[in-house]
Formats: sequence, C-alpha cells, structure tokens
Amino acid sequence: MARKKIALIGSGMIGGTLAHLAAKKEMGDIVLFDIAEGMPQGKALDLSQCGPIEGFDAKITGTNDYADIAGADVVIVTAGVPRKPGMSRDDLLGINLKVMKAVGEGIKNNCPDAFVICITNPLDAMVWALREFSGLPHNKVVGMAGVLDSARFATFLAWEFGCSVKDVNAFVLGGHGDTMVPVKSYTTINGIPVDDYAKIKGVSESRIDEIVDRTRKGGGEIVGLLGNGSAYYAPATSAISMAEAYLGDQKRILPCASYVEGKYGLDGLYVGVPTVIGAGGTEEVIEIELSDEEKSNLKVSTDAVEELLEACKGLDESLK
Ligand code: LMR
Repeated sequence: MARKKIALIGSGMIGGTLAHLAAKKEMGDIVLFDIAEGMPQGKALDLSQCGPIEGFDAKITGTNDYADIAGADVVIVTAGVPRKPGMSRDDLLGINLKVMKAVGEGIKNNCPDAFVICITNPLDAMVWALREFSGLPHNKVVGMAGVLDSARFATFLAWEFGCSVKDVNAFVLGGHGDTMVPVKSYTTINGIPVDDYAKIKGVSESRIDEIVDRTRKGGGEIVGLLGNGSAYYAPATSAISMAEAYLGDQKRILPCASYVEGKYGLDGLYVGVPTVIGAGGTEEVIEIELSDEEKSNLKVSTDAVEELLEACKGLDESLK
C-alpha cells in the first residue's frame, strides 16, 4: 500500500506539534509548508532527528513551495495569525482570510482530492473560506474545534470529580467562540449523566455552570497565560484524531465544524455538530434532540457564526 502523505500548512507551534504527532504515529510522510524561508526546513530536520530516538519511520520535509504538497491525502491548515490577549478570535478575520485565499488556491492546484482540516481562526468562517478558495466538496473540508472544546470540558469535569478523563464523555456544539454550547444532556461520566453524577458527588449545579463557562472561554484562558500566542498541543492532538478517523475509515462521531444543510434549522453553514468521519470525509451530520434551552443557546451561537460569515463574505468580495 502506498504511504500516505500529510501536508501541514503553517510551521508554527501547532504545525510543529502536528508533525511530531503524525510522525510518532507513523501516519505517513509529512510535508511541512510555510512561507517563512528556513523555518519549515529547520523544523523538519529537527523532527527527523527524533526518528532514531523515538523509533518512528516517517519522511519529514520542509518547504516553501506549494508544489511539494501535491497528492497529499490530508492537509491540516494552521497558517495565519493567532490572537493576542484582549483580542477575540473574530478580530483575526481580515488578516487570516487573505492567508486562507493563498492556502485554498495552493490546495486546489496541488491536492484537490485531499481531506482538509482547518485550525486557523476565526474557525467557522475560515473553514468556509478554505472551501470557497479551494473549490473542494463540502464533505472534504472541515474545522477542528468541537473535539478541542469537548476535550476542555472533559478535562475540567474530570478535575472537579476527581475521576479519570477516560471516563468522561463531554460534548460541545456550535461555533468556536464564547457562545459555544457545552451540552450537559449528552455529557456523561462513564454513562452516568453529568447532572446525576454531580448529585452523587455533591457538586452543585452552579459549580457545573462555572465549568461550562470556563470551557466556553477555554481558548482565551490559554491566550492570557501564554501572553504571545494561543494553545497548540490540544488543537494539534484534536486535528490528528480527525485525520486518523479519515485515513483509517474509522466512522468516528466527532464534534467538528462541518457543513450543515437541512439539520439544526440551518441552511448551509459550517458550525460545530456531531459528525461521522470516515473515508468519505465528513460522511454524515448527526442531529441530536436538544432541550429548549440548548436549542436557544445553539441558535445564539449559530447566529454569531452567520453574522461573522456575512462580514467574511464582504471582505472576500474585496479580495477578488
Ligand atoms: C483555542 O481555542 O485554543 C484556539 O481557538 C485559539 C484561541 O485563540 O483561543
């Protein structure tokens, strides 16, 4: 069987972490692309030299030429600028939209059959932009966010309950912004609904609400701590799990920014929903029953994404 090819667009902290994870897991050969000369080449060389120590077999190359991503099976996009403390993800719209134009065209011209996972912010709008500029089908372009946001929710719950994260199944829907919707009714501790488990453990409802709020602001908390940059380990790990689901035709049900048409009352919007990922890309969006409160929270979140998308479309016109 031919070795798979993973193209990573952007060789910053997330790009480097992605390359390291993909190499350790021997997911295929890795091409690290960046416009900054020397950076992807230097990181590729450094990472290659981990191979003999860690015992992985992966060819890792760095490049400034989009031609080198030709034939990639998976493309993970982290190119663009991260926010700084005090900024919202939406503040990155104008600058990162221009970057997505170049990246989308690079994908269109070199690997139009790839499965494309976007990490760049503001996420939901940038997934839309990548799809527009690459011309790929909707099922082959997806945003990483729900996996990350759900992992944050799970982490905070595990800490609160003093249980293993392996037993927490947490679930976050909606846009990747502060209006995202951690869904308590589908969050369980080894099958026990979180609200029931909280009662068993004597954890108050208001404490769970604080955890929901911390989850919503989880990206900003890390931006504030780092001072100059945003999270990279968990975003990279999330995207790798999505790439593995695609390459291995795993049919995993992962919350991610997929194209939703005719479900959740939406008519063609990229937003975080449970999605089956397999060899067909995003194969199916799963529509789950929500309480009235969850529905109205989701509406607030999807309205925020729609509003940002309108701004994005206006800027897109000016790029033509
Ligand atoms: C995150 O959630 O960590 C990323 O979206 C980065 C950010 O700006 O918060």
